[in-house]
Amino acid sequence: MQLVHTIEELRDVLRPFDAPAFVPTMGNLHDGHLNLVRSAKPLGDVVVSSIFVNRLQFAPNEDFDSYPRTLQADCDRLEQAGCDVVFAPKEKELYPVPQGFKIQPAAELADILEGHFRPGFFTGVCTVVMKLFQCVFSEAKGPRHALFGKKDYQQQMVIRRMVQQFALPITIVAGETQRAPDGLALSSRNRYLSEADRAEAVQLSLALRALARDALSCADALSTKLPALEDRAMHALAARGWMPDYLTVRRRADLLPPQAGDELVVLGAARLSSTRLIDNFEI
Ligand code: PAF
Repeated sequence: MQLVHTIEELRDVLRPFDAPAFVPTMGNLHDGHLNLVRSAKPLGDVVVSSIFVNRLQFAPNEDFDSYPRTLQADCDRLEQAGCDVVFAPKEKELYPVPQGFKIQPAAELADILEGHFRPGFFTGVCTVVMKLFQCVFSEAKGPRHALFGKKDYQQQMVIRRMVQQFALPITIVAGETQRAPDGLALSSRNRYLSEADRAEAVQLSLALRALARDALSCADALSTKLPALEDRAMHALAARGWMPDYLTVRRRADLLPPQAGDELVVLGAARLSSTRLIDNFEI
């Protein structure tokens, strides 16, 4: 496996290949990321992963400075998972000057749910992903794939739309969420949890499963009954000491409130002590 730090080195290394399969990450990798790398293997002739903690997607009050940087351990794990090239640029390499041009995703998808609670988040994500795509795929001539985890459900939808609307010749592949044995979705931020909070953390996924069951049991009158069910789920989690941002059932197509007959996804975000966790299930 080759580790490169500059865009020029990356393009040189990738020049002989036609069909990169790309897994962008912010490092501090867990099995969810490694599973994406393993899934990337049959999709291209070279598997590339990036490790870059992207300042643009962090609000000033968020954890940009404390986000764990674990490059050596990440490289060891990527190599074992079959990654061929790791691109780990310094901030000055990707943003040599303040990034004045940004990708502004459509508000109807990017300003709801995560985008409502983290204003500007998806602009930061789309901007860096577009830039990483330019770095990784510029020399490609064959099929190009990029893989994102369904744990960040809205993120992979926003990126999919960006790719469609800019007619990028890239296929977006969504990988299933990986879970700990108790059901907690794997996330780099699980590291922040104290022992007691780690034991409690699974309650977010349990609350989402309960909300999903309630929603399915009134599928015919979903739009009228859903607000009360969502309120109840939020209150139940708050009663355990969480600070929920949202627990909601949406339609999978566009994450808007559903009507009877829509394909559904249940999504939630909530803070436990100082750690904000998100999760979702397609139902
Ligand atoms: O999901 C992530 O880790 C990040 O949002 C991404 C896609 C690597 C962009 O920085």
